[in-house]
Amino acid sequence: MELRMVLVIVSLLPLLEAQNPQHANITGIPITNDTLDWLSGKWFYIGSVINNLKFKQEAQKVQTDYFYFTPNLTDDTILLQEYQTTEDRCVYNISKLTVQRENGTISRCEGAIEYVAHLKVFKKHMSFLLAFSPEDEKNRALSFYANKPDIAPEVLEEFQKAIKSLGMNESEVIYIDWKKDKCSQQETQPDPERKKTEEEP
Ligand SMILES: *[C@@H]1O[C@H](CO)[C@@H](O)[C@H](O)[C@H]1NC(C)=O
Ligand SMILES: *[C@@H]1O[C@H](CO)[C@@H](O)[C@H](O)[C@H]1NC(C)=O
Ligand SMILES: *[C@@H]1O[C@H](CO)[C@@H](O)[C@H](O)[C@H]1NC(C)=O
Ligand SMILES: *[C@@H]1O[C@H](CO)[C@@H](O)[C@H](O)[C@H]1NC(C)=O
Ligand SMILES: *[C@@H]1O[C@H](CO)[C@@H](O)[C@H](O)[C@H]1NC(C)=O
Ligand SMILES: *[C@@H]1O[C@H](CO)[C@@H](O)[C@H](O)[C@H]1NC(C)=O
Repeated sequence: MELRMVLVIVSLLPLLEAQNPQHANITGIPITNDTLDWLSGKWFYIGSVINNLKFKQEAQKVQTDYFYFTPNLTDDTILLQEYQTTEDRCVYNISKLTVQRENGTISRCEGAIEYVAHLKVFKKHMSFLLAFSPEDEKNRALSFYANKPDIAPEVLEEFQKAIKSLGMNESEVIYIDWKKDKCSQQETQPDPERKKTEEEP
């Protein structure tokens, strides 16, 4: 799902210290400077599988979502500039994520609550995933991102492997529909309001 919403979908349970070997390929992969440099730039939200019904319903409202990551290697944060289409409208938002390098997680604070996601990157395929609450079946969620909105079969295969490894159901992936995007045009075209006034005598 889109990142902001996705980061909201997380358990308030503490992360398990002992990693489940089944999740070994998804959690506990340390984040390095290389990872952060690689993450820098534009990403498209592809889809997600969400066990929690309430969050799933919210994710279904997201038509498209893309964003820019600007990592800061000094203070271990990532600036997130996000363009989301919901109800045929583009909504822009900006926020900051925090990186826990040794845990391989990124998180976001909203008030007193910290939402945590495990990061796994597929450098070869220019894509990555975020796993939420892998240890908690009821709240488990996975979201997928890639450097373009239409993904290659090899990338899909990686995502499907991850879905299976968490015991989730492939048939329940919610995919975005890039045709519904209202943001990219808005981002690159001049502001229609301003254009109108400029054209006025
Ligand atoms: C990493 O995870 C451990 C275990 O859950 C936790 O105690 C620790 O605070 C985490 N580190 C950071 C920097 O979040
Ligand atoms: C982890 O990934 C490697 C390579 O992709 C694979 O060979 C291995 O079986 C995976 N391990 C688990 C526990 O899924
Ligand atoms: C990561 O990058 C920061 C900023 O450039 C640098 O201060 C730090 O030493 C680097 N860490 C490693 C392990 O290279
Ligand atoms: C990165 O974080 C450091 C420490 O907070 C800050 O001094 C620096 O200006 C930041 N760099 C950028 C490019 O924002
Ligand atoms: C933007 O993000 C902030 C912080 O996460 C959130 O409180 C706010 O509701 C968001 N705004 C929109 C328009 O989505
Ligand atoms: C996956 O979901 C489909 C459709 O909801 C359902 O028919 C199927 O039984 C589920 N499979 C598993 C393994 O849960």
